[in-house]
Amino acid sequence: MSSASPQAEHTLPEANVVGRLLSVNVGLPKDVSWKGKTVFTGVFKDPVTGPRRVRKLNVDGDGQGDLAGHGGEQRAVFVYQIDSYRYWEHELGRNDFVHGQFGENFTIEGQVGDDEVCIGDRYQIGTAVFEVTQPRVTCYRVGIRMNDPRMPALLVSHRRPGFYFRVLQAGEVQAGDEMLKLASGPEQMTVAEVNALLYLPGHPRQQLLRALRIPALSPGWQTSLHALLEGEPGGGNAGLATTSPPPAWPGFRQLIVTGIDRESDSVISIRLEDPDGASLPPARPGQYLTLRLQPENEQRSVLRNYSLSGPPDAGYYRVTVKREHNGLASGYLHTRLRVGDQLDIAAPRGTFILDRTRAPVLLISAGIGATPVLAMLHALTEEHSAREIWWLHGARSGRDHSFATEARALLASLRNVHTRVCYSRPGPDDLEGRDFDAVGRLTASLLAELAPPRDAEAYLCGPIPFMEEISAGLASMGIDASRIHTEPFGPAPGLTPGIAATPARTPHAPPGKPGSGPTIEFARSDLAIPWSDEYASLLEFAEACDVPVRWSCRTGVCHNCETTLIGGTVNYNPDPVEPPAEGSALICCSRPHDDVVLDL
Ligand SMILES: Cc1cc2nc3c(=O)[nH]c(=O)nc-3n(C[C@H](O)[C@H](O)[C@H](O)COP(=O)(O)OP(=O)(O)OC[C@H]3O[C@@H](n4cnc5c(N)ncnc54)[C@H](O)[C@@H]3O)c2cc1C
Ligand code: FES
Repeated sequence: MSSASPQAEHTLPEANVVGRLLSVNVGLPKDVSWKGKTVFTGVFKDPVTGPRRVRKLNVDGDGQGDLAGHGGEQRAVFVYQIDSYRYWEHELGRNDFVHGQFGENFTIEGQVGDDEVCIGDRYQIGTAVFEVTQPRVTCYRVGIRMNDPRMPALLVSHRRPGFYFRVLQAGEVQAGDEMLKLASGPEQMTVAEVNALLYLPGHPRQQLLRALRIPALSPGWQTSLHALLEGEPGGGNAGLATTSPPPAWPGFRQLIVTGIDRESDSVISIRLEDPDGASLPPARPGQYLTLRLQPENEQRSVLRNYSLSGPPDAGYYRVTVKREHNGLASGYLHTRLRVGDQLDIAAPRGTFILDRTRAPVLLISAGIGATPVLAMLHALTEEHSAREIWWLHGARSGRDHSFATEARALLASLRNVHTRVCYSRPGPDDLEGRDFDAVGRLTASLLAELAPPRDAEAYLCGPIPFMEEISAGLASMGIDASRIHTEPFGPAPGLTPGIAATPARTPHAPPGKPGSGPTIEFARSDLAIPWSDEYASLLEFAEACDVPVRWSCRTGVCHNCETTLIGGTVNYNPDPVEPPAEGSALICCSRPHDDVVLDL
C-alpha cells in the first residue's frame, strides 16, 4: 500500500495484497456523433495523475451519461484488468489500447481477474474501501469506445466483462496503490460465473439460488436472477426480457365470425371460432389477437391488434372494437363484417398478463381500455379468486359504458371486491349509485383517496395520458414500479439509451430506392415494405423507417430488442449469445428469411 494510505477500518487481520491499481481514469459525459445521431456518453475516460477522492457515487471528475444503465451507488466505480487488455490485444490483433480503453475507472493488475474476484469481495485501495457488486452490463457504447461494435457480445461470450465496485468507505486512491483484499464474499461466486449465469444459456437453478444468497449482489441483478428462477420453458432469457409466452400457432390461421354484439354506441364485440368447431387454444388473461383485414378499396391488407375481452379459456375468442373516427379497420369491422365471414388471425400474444400471485389486484381502465382487464376479471371469477380485487373504470356516460352489465355480474360473484365507476359526462338517464359511482374522471387524486393496498399488482389500460397519470399516482402511493403494468393500444415506447431526443416522426418507408427482398410488416406502425440488403439488421431497417424500437447492445446480448415475431422467420448473424423466446426475434442481429411480421 502507498505510504500515504492509512489502514481502513474494515481491514481484517488476514488481509493480503492481491493486486495493484495501475491507472485511475475519469471522464465526464459528452456528446459524441454516431451513425448520424448524437450520443451522450461517459464511456471516454482518461488517466489522471496524483490522488483522487472516491465518493459514494463517483470518482471525483467522473460521471455517467445514462444513469439508467450505468453509475449509481451499486455501480460507482467500473474496474477492468490489464490481463484482459493483453487478451483482447491478442484476440483482436490490436496494439492501440490506452488506460481507460474499456470505459473503466480503475485499470488493475494482479490476481484480480473476472475468474478470481467474487461478488461480495471487499478491497482496500488507498484509503477507500470497496465491495464488488456485479459484473459490467455491456451496451453499444463500449463498442463506440473500442471502435468495434462486436465488443458488447465479445465481453460476455469470452467471459471477461469486468466488474463494479460500490464504495463502502470514501477515500483517496492513486495509480500505484496496492489492492488489499479485506474479506471474501459469501458463496465465493466469481464475477465470470455470475455473469454467465445471467447471460449465457443454462441458468442452473442451484447456481441461481447460490448467487441470490450473496447480499452484496446489486438489487438489479437480484431481480434478474429471480426472474430466471421463475422463467418458463421456451420463454427465452427471462432475466433480461419479459416476452410473450410461445404462440399457440405460427403466423395466421382462419377463424370464423360466429357472433357480433353491440356493447355500447361505438363498441362491438366479435366472437371468433375454429371453422371446424374445434376448441381454440386458451389465451392468458390480458393478451391480444392480431387481425389481418382487407377493407374494400384498400390495395393492401392491414394488421390491427385487439385485446381479448372474454374468458381466456372458453374455446372461442372474443375481441371488442371501438369505432374510431375515420378508422380504417374499426370502420370496416363495424360496417362490413358479417357473421360467417372468415378472418386471418394470429395466435394470442402479449406480456400484459394477469399474475398468478395472491396479491391484491387493481384493474384500472378508461373507455375501450376495459377489454384486457375484463378478460382478467373473467379469469379471476372462473377461479373463484379470494384475492382483493379493485375494479376502477372511467367512461363518458352510460351510452359509452361497455360491459356494464357483464362486469357487474362478474364482480357480484367475487368475494373481496372494491369498485368505482366514474362517468365524466353522465347522460340524463344515468343514475348515480345505480349506473355509476361518481361524476368526473378517474384521476390520480381520486385513486389517492381510495388508497388501494401498496402490495397490489396494478393493470392499467386506456389512453396514454390516463395511464401516465395513474402510473405516477400509484408510484407516489408507494406501489413498486415492477407491479404497475400498462397496455398501450398503439406502438410501445422506444428505448434508445443515451441517444439525444429528436422529434418523433410518423413511420414511413425508408429513404432511397425500394428494396426487392421479402415484405417486412411493422404491425403497430401500419407499415409494409420490401426489405433491402442495404441494411445490416431488422433493427437498422426499422430505424430507417422511424418505427419505435428498443435496444442497448445491438449485438445479441442484452435482449432489449426482443420483439414479438407474429409471422415469418429470421436468420441471425452473429448468433445471439442466448436465443430469444419462441415466437420472438432479436432484431439487432437478424435479417428476414422470408416475409416477416413484427409487432412494432
Ligand atoms: C396491444 C393492442 C391492443 C389493442 N386492443 C384494442 C381493443 O381491445 N379494442 C380496440 O378498439 N382497439 C384496440 N387496439 C387499437 C387497434 O389496434 C387499432 O389501432 C384501432 O382499432 C384503430 O384502428 P383503425 O384502423 O380503425 O384506425 P386508423 O385508420 O389506424 O386510425 C386511427 C386514428 O387515427 C386517425 N387517422 C388515421 N389516419 C390519419 C391521418 N392521416 N391523419 C390524422 N389522423 C389520422 C383516425 O381518424 C383514427 O382516429 C389495440 C392496439 C394494441 C396495440
Ligand atoms: S439490442 Fe441487445 S440483444 Fe438486441
